[in-house]
Amino acid sequence: MKLFDVYPLNNICIEKAKGSIVWDNYGNEYLDMYGGHAVISIGHAHPKWKARIEEQLNKIAFYSNSIIIPLQQQLADKLGQVSGKNDYQLFLCNSGAEANENALKLASFHNGRKKIIAFTKAFHGRTSLAVSATDNKNYSAPVNENDHVIFLPFNDEAALIDCFEKYGNEISSVIIEGIQGVGGIREASITFLRLIRKLCDQYGALYIADGVQCGYGRTGLFFSHDVAGVNADIYSMAKGMGNGFPIGGILIAPHIQPKHFQLGTTFGGNHLACAAALAVLEVMEEERLMQNAIMVGNHLIQSLSKIDIVQNLRGRGLMIGFDLPESHSKLRSRLLNEYRVFTGEAKPNTVRLLPSMALTMEAADLFIDRLKKAIATN
Ligand SMILES: Cc1ncc(COP(=O)(O)O)c(C=O)c1O
Repeated sequence: MKLFDVYPLNNICIEKAKGSIVWDNYGNEYLDMYGGHAVISIGHAHPKWKARIEEQLNKIAFYSNSIIIPLQQQLADKLGQVSGKNDYQLFLCNSGAEANENALKLASFHNGRKKIIAFTKAFHGRTSLAVSATDNKNYSAPVNENDHVIFLPFNDEAALIDCFEKYGNEISSVIIEGIQGVGGIREASITFLRLIRKLCDQYGALYIADGVQCGYGRTGLFFSHDVAGVNADIYSMAKGMGNGFPIGGILIAPHIQPKHFQLGTTFGGNHLACAAALAVLEVMEEERLMQNAIMVGNHLIQSLSKIDIVQNLRGRGLMIGFDLPESHSKLRSRLLNEYRVFTGEAKPNTVRLLPSMALTMEAADLFIDRLKKAIATN
């Protein structure tokens, strides 16, 4: 059987990993500044994470959500404490798209409305509602097309006010990434996030903060949206939550009441996933990884700002983006194939850095060193 060919692949096979280093099948060592697409939060193969999963595996890996799974409550308690959203409720699922799908659906259950506001260059996942709120026609099949989603220009306050004035009581939710990831590390402004909160309150819509890529501590705040000092009604999470073990979820504000069977899942919140997610939060706390993300992120930004060809440097903590001039369009692939550094991209010419929050200063310097060498030999 052939694999269904959905991605252009790098001709590299990674077999082993530790911290921010991965090794291919020839034993070549690579620096991982991409974190497997922002997924590796506490570092590859963290010993505490491995031990927690192994210990759980020796007890029970899975049973259905028809029984009490105490690990889910432990995870909810820990998440409440680390995120500061203690009074929120947790619903667990398996991926970022699923988290957003449930968030959008729950908002519609809650206020009985259909319209969703999303923004240009947004990426919210590939399931049906999530993809219809994603601003890339290539990802939507005809069956995903609907007239519920209104796309507005990102950070355009006047357009947002206009839209609420026009559709007011039809708007169910506004979904926004605190920092757009796939869209190229574009930050939502503080005033824009506050305006979303204000208009949602005024019109009875729900504010959904997509924290799948920009959340879970990566920017130094648990949710990057927190920078605005206002709460969302629903936060979606995935990627860093399990450090590679598939798990996602939504945090739901206390004013949203649950109803049996509105949301559900077979695999979400299984024993193994909860064990992995608990290990992540424990390590984040013990090793002060959100503080580390700020410190190493600032250091990277400072070092990058001194490099001539680095344009439009932006981001916070360990979610950093910069643009390359046309003359250096091959730099990313040369970094990977000649200098052995994984980075992320955003079309057309943005480099995205999404390393583990445990990235050390030495590893950050190693990246800068390899980047400079790649530029010098361009
Ligand atoms: C902001 C954002 N939301 C949602 C998703 C979808 O997550 P998943 O691929 O786990 O479904 C992504 C994935 O890149 C993302 O960046």
